Amino acid sequence: MDALEDLCQEASEAAAKLGSAIASGGYIRIVSHNDVDGICSGTIAIQAVRRQGGSAHLSFSDHVYEGDLASLLSSGPELIVFCDMGSDLLGGLRKSGRPYLVLDHHHTGETDDRLVNPSTMGIDGTSEVSASGVTYLVARELNPDNVELSPIALCGAFGDMQGLTGANEMIASEAESEGLVERREELRLIGRVDRPMEYSICYSTLPFIKGLSGNQMAAAKFLRDIGVEVEAKTSISELDDEMERVLIRELAEKMVREDASTPEAERLFGRSLRLLDGPSPTIEDAVDYVESCSALGEYSTALAYLVGSPGSGDEVERLRLRYKEKIFEGVGTFESAKRMENLDYIDLDGWDEYVGKLCGIYANAGFSGRLRPVFGLSKREDSVKVSGRTNPELVRKGLDLGSALSEAARTVGGQGGGHSVAAGAKVPLGAEGDFLESLDRVVGNQLGGVVDE
Ligand code: C5P
Repeated sequence: MDALEDLCQEASEAAAKLGSAIASGGYIRIVSHNDVDGICSGTIAIQAVRRQGGSAHLSFSDHVYEGDLASLLSSGPELIVFCDMGSDLLGGLRKSGRPYLVLDHHHTGETDDRLVNPSTMGIDGTSEVSASGVTYLVARELNPDNVELSPIALCGAFGDMQGLTGANEMIASEAESEGLVERREELRLIGRVDRPMEYSICYSTLPFIKGLSGNQMAAAKFLRDIGVEVEAKTSISELDDEMERVLIRELAEKMVREDASTPEAERLFGRSLRLLDGPSPTIEDAVDYVESCSALGEYSTALAYLVGSPGSGDEVERLRLRYKEKIFEGVGTFESAKRMENLDYIDLDGWDEYVGKLCGIYANAGFSGRLRPVFGLSKREDSVKVSGRTNPELVRKGLDLGSALSEAARTVGGQGGGHSVAAGAKVPLGAEGDFLESLDRVVGNQLGGVVDE
């Protein structure tokens, strides 16, 4: 059996456990990560339970610690399901003696017959399958009609910056054969089907186009300067092929001039999906709307949007514009970034939910040297939240932010982890200085001196 078949087999065993919990009539407690992939996973899980006639309670969190388990289990769910998190909670869950499922894709060395995690069978959970993909595989084993949820699984994958390889490719093919998505190679800016071009350029934050994102006048001038003559309301999808090619080339050249990372510039154009029966015309729009809701803590709006509830489209558009204004304001903090030997860090107090996104922009759009990871720190009541971001070029040179943050946080009594390009940590308040010193050393060791001056 190949690894993907193994994954489907484990999903099928998990589906059987979920199915019998639903059949026994109790309620299913679902706890999911609060980023795009987590929101999509949670949405798939709750839809799957409800479609089987079960009842479920879904909540979102940025992290669950072992100490939180007792309260999550106190109301006596028939089954607790963790999505996009929980691989580090297996010890605590086993100790609790209560039934659980963990549907995750973060790298783990743990094995457990109630865990479905691609990394346990050698599948790369960073690039080939998201937690939404894992949850979808369980949902579709529970009931084949849940193939209808496949676009939500793909939204989770794109939200975690994954492409159409491995299990994602399989899910895209299923969605395609059901007539739910259509593959396209195109300029991947939001609003490209249903918004004016200026809007697409100005509100794009993935990629973030330095000098144009957040500046509608600059976006309009850019379009005039490159000779893309258009009516005020023309969308990108209305351009003829030649004009679209000019736009792609000029945008890419602008990004390269601004020192964006190669993968960030490559994000402009490529394989994408149109959603034929989805809440928005493109997968980039869906990801962007869910991300806006996520940052603003408007999880139920994201859920309503993903399942196509009437009226949710106007609401997510309003949230998108609010979120983007906040991002553009946050980019202003980059001027205060500080430089250590092997990394940059930014004091992002008060930016909490935006820290990861802002660091992603800083690391990729050309705000730092290209060979330099960045960490954002934001104080909470009794701890400091840390987010680290880098670009794939540095990962290829040996950087793994997940293990770097885990190791550095441990030296000061904190906890950290995540993926090689995007990871986070929580460290005790007051320990930031020692933590950064340790992190700088660990990053330096991983990279062996390739960091930009
Ligand atoms: O919070 P942030 O978006 O920066 O997290 C990036 C990644 O790091 C996520 O996948 C998250 O699950 C992981 N993380 C972690 N431990 C933490 C914080 C984040 O494993 N304390």
